Amino acid sequence: MNRRDLLKTPLFLAMAKPCCELPGLPPTAYLRQGSTLAIDLRQATALQKMGGAARIRDEALQLHLVVAQTAPGVFHAWHGACTHGGAPLAYDARHGTALCSSVGHSEFGAQGEVVRGPAPRPVQVFPVKRTGETLTVELEAAR
Ligand code: FES
Repeated sequence: MNRRDLLKTPLFLAMAKPCCELPGLPPTAYLRQGSTLAIDLRQATALQKMGGAARIRDEALQLHLVVAQTAPGVFHAWHGACTHGGAPLAYDARHGTALCSSVGHSEFGAQGEVVRGPAPRPVQVFPVKRTGETLTVELEAAR
């Protein structure tokens, strides 16, 4: 196998994939109404399975969230940036935590608490309620 073939193997691609990539949701999948954000699960395919997660980054709406289905039918939302240096957070389905993409890899629990530093303080989390195929994120009720 030559180098070019090696680079195309599934194992190499899995190893080369950054740890913290998250799919973004299309703007049609969510709607902000005042202090709430409604997410249409039918359009949010990344959130439809347990362990799935997505990033919502919308400058116009001043939103940066990581949303994940942390248990069957249970969803959590974290602010999308690390409190250490502002690097994007992703979701670690193995531990149910939000994981920083920087070298430090700070980790935040379901309540936003620092599980592993160097992050100096918790990250904001937002209550998420599911009603049918809609998730409602309470943006003003951040903890
Ligand atoms: S920015 Fe997250 S650990 Fe430094």
